[in-house]
Amino acid sequence: VTQIPDQVRPERVEAYEALLARLSRLSVTKHHDAYGDVAWDADALRIDAGDPRFELSDVDAIGATAWYRAQPPARRAAMGLHRVTQFMKVGLQFENVLNRGLLRFAARQPDRSLEFRYAYHELIEECQHTLMFQEFVNRSGLDVDGLPHWARFLSSRIAALGARFPELFFLFVLAGEDPIDFTQRTALRRELHPLLQRIAQIHVTEEARHLCFARAFLRRHVPSLSPARRAALALAAPLVLAATAARMMRPSRDFVARFAVPREVLAEVFRPHSPHRRHVAQAFAKVRDLWVELDLVTPRTERLWRALGVWA
Ligand SMILES: [Fe+2]
Ligand SMILES: [Fe+2]
Repeated sequence: VTQIPDQVRPERVEAYEALLARLSRLSVTKHHDAYGDVAWDADALRIDAGDPRFELSDVDAIGATAWYRAQPPARRAAMGLHRVTQFMKVGLQFENVLNRGLLRFAARQPDRSLEFRYAYHELIEECQHTLMFQEFVNRSGLDVDGLPHWARFLSSRIAALGARFPELFFLFVLAGEDPIDFTQRTALRRELHPLLQRIAQIHVTEEARHLCFARAFLRRHVPSLSPARRAALALAAPLVLAATAARMMRPSRDFVARFAVPREVLAEVFRPHSPHRRHVAQAFAKVRDLWVELDLVTPRTERLWRALGVWA
């Protein structure tokens, strides 16, 4: 992870190409296999719903509430397992959309394109992540909600952007990958169940490269976009971020029903300046900084960012 420069300025085509070549080399030398590199059947990695290491930390929307901390330990652990399983389910559905978009993107690239090669490395890595997340969901024994139908319906539209408007597609990529990355990095700071720990380590290492590519791609291509496309990106960012935050970080309906989360607790979670709101805004701080840097935040859209709670 440490070898990846987050602040590459790919204004010059040489710097951009050198970065893509470097990221591609890292995909060759440091990559993981969902089954080869996770000891799924080891006793120490077995999933037990009562394991206290599944308990939610206070950076989680529900974990931060007094109501959660007052629950009996077994129930706190069961809620934690449910939340993390749901997070993986949504994560793998997101990766499916991402991969379809990367294929559409790659199909438009000419011979000798470094973007073509890197897109395939990323896609291969995402396929391994998806297998890893799905295996976890299967082994959890839980039947959790994934994305709602409307989001699944929109997914083919988003994937089509990979060919038609790749800058907007890579905004979706950042909107999905940044909060997953932020949440996993935060989670890795404390003692986790060893299976979660292994999955998060593998994922964080490879996502750092994907995030680096998405940002470099945007820095390279956004400056030469038409005013109409720039305006579309400026308006889309806060909306896309708010929509993905709602899908990825918020407790799902089936969670609320299964654990009978009281209405007042949910009101506390979503009140202005709650830990959950702060966490969401922090998770998107890097996208916001990039949008500011690319001159894609206007006074009017800044108000929208703030109103939607995605401005840290
Ligand atoms: Fe991934
Ligand atoms: Fe990724």
